[in-house]
Amino acid sequence: SITGAPAEEEFETPSFGEQIATVRADYERTFDVPPEWIVAAPGRVNLIGEHTDYNAGFVFPLAIERYVVIAGGRPKQQGSKLVKVHSTLLNETVDFSLDDLKPEEVTWTSYIRGAFAGCLERGMEPGGLNLAVDSKVPLGGGLSSSAALEVATATMIEAVTGKKLDPVDKARLCQKAEHDYAGVPCGIMDQFSSSLGEAGKLLLIDCRTETAEMVSLDDLNVAVLIINTNVKHELTGGEYAERRSQCEAAAKELGVKALRDITLEKLEAYADKLEPVLFRRARHVVSENERVLKAAEALRAGDWEDVGELMYASHNSLRDDYKVSCPELDVLVNEAHRVGTEGGVIGSRMTGGGFGGCTVTLVAAGKEREIADKICQGYQKETGIEATPFVTKPARGAHIVQG
Ligand code: ADP
Ligand code: GAL
Repeated sequence: SITGAPAEEEFETPSFGEQIATVRADYERTFDVPPEWIVAAPGRVNLIGEHTDYNAGFVFPLAIERYVVIAGGRPKQQGSKLVKVHSTLLNETVDFSLDDLKPEEVTWTSYIRGAFAGCLERGMEPGGLNLAVDSKVPLGGGLSSSAALEVATATMIEAVTGKKLDPVDKARLCQKAEHDYAGVPCGIMDQFSSSLGEAGKLLLIDCRTETAEMVSLDDLNVAVLIINTNVKHELTGGEYAERRSQCEAAAKELGVKALRDITLEKLEAYADKLEPVLFRRARHVVSENERVLKAAEALRAGDWEDVGELMYASHNSLRDDYKVSCPELDVLVNEAHRVGTEGGVIGSRMTGGGFGGCTVTLVAAGKEREIADKICQGYQKETGIEATPFVTKPARGAHIVQG
C-alpha cells in the first residue's frame, strides 16, 4: 500500500527559535508550568553509502536543519516514576512508568521508552518527567525522525541527570532502542549522525570502528536539496531485515567477517559460486563502500562531476542490485538527471532505507528553487503526486538548549 504524507514541509530552513517557542508554549499549555529543560536532536540525510552501515562499511551523511525538540520538567508529585509525553504533532499525551520499561506493541513512544531503557541501564536516574515533543523532521520520510526522537530523549536524560554520555555510546544506546523497542535491526548511521553532527560538516563514518572523520562542506557554490516523494511503500516480509540477513549469508559464503572485508575484484571472482541474488546484494554493498571513499576524496578535492557520477551510480546499484528503490524515487532521480549539469544539477540518488522517502540532490547554489520546481513538476506529471522539496546545510548534532 502507499501512504501519502501531507505536503507541508517548508522549502527554507525553519526558524529554530520559533520551534523552541512553540514547544515551550506547548509544554506550558499541557503541564501548566514552564519547562526546566529543552533539548534538540536533528534528522539526517545520507549523501552516499546506503545499506553499508550494517556491513561494517562506510557511510557519508550529514545532520539536517530539521530538529526534534523536547521540553521537559519535573512532575508536581515528588518521587514519581511516571513519564508523561505530549506530542505536538499528534496532539496526544501518553504516559509510561520507568519501573516497568519493556518492548511492547510499537507506537510512537517506543523510541522514547527504548532510549529511557538504555539510559537506565547505564545507571542514569532521571526519575519521573513531563515531556513535550515537537518535530520538523518529516515522519517516516527516511530522514530518521525516529533516530532524532531517540537521541533527543537521551539528551533530555543527560540534561536532567547532569550526566553526559559519550556521544558514540549515546548513538549505540539509541540504535539498541530501535532494535529492541521498534523492532528494526538498523545500523548505526542515523543515531550517530544525530548525536555527532556538526554545522557545516559531513560525517565520513567507519561503521566498524564507529569513528568519523568530519569533512567540511564549505563550497559556497554547492547546495543540498532534499525531495520527499511523499510515498512509503509498506512491504510485507520485512525487506530491511531480509537484506541484512542476505548480506550476512553472503559474507559467510565468502568466508569474511563482513562484506566490508572483500574487494570488488575478489567478489567478482566468486560470481559463479554465490547464489545470484546474494551475489547482487553483495555487489551493491562492496561497490557502494568503494563509492563512498571515492566520493569523500572527490568532495574534498572539489571534483563535483565525480561526486555527481558516484551518486547516480549509487542509485542505480540500489535500484538494480539491492532492489530497494521504487518507481517514485526513480522518477525523482531521472528528473534531476534530465535537468542535468547544464541546469545546475550535480548528482542525485535515493537516500535512507528505500521503498519511498526522499532523494538527495546536489545542486548549484542559487538555483535550488528553480531546480526543485522543475523536478517536482516532472514528478507530478509522471506520478500524479506532489513531492515536497527543501534545502539544508549540514547541521549541529544533538544538544541541550536550556538547562
Ligand atoms: P523515519 O525514521 O525515517 O522518519 P520511521 O518509520 O523509522 O521513519 O519512524 C517514524 C516514526 O517515529 C513515526 O511513525 C512516529 O511513531 C515516530 N516519531 C518521530 N517523531 C515523532 C514526533 N515528533 N512525535 C511523535 N512520534 C514521532
Ligand atoms: C536506514 C537504517 C540505517 C541504514 C539505512 C540504509 O533505514 O536505519 O541504519 O541501514 O537504512 O543505508
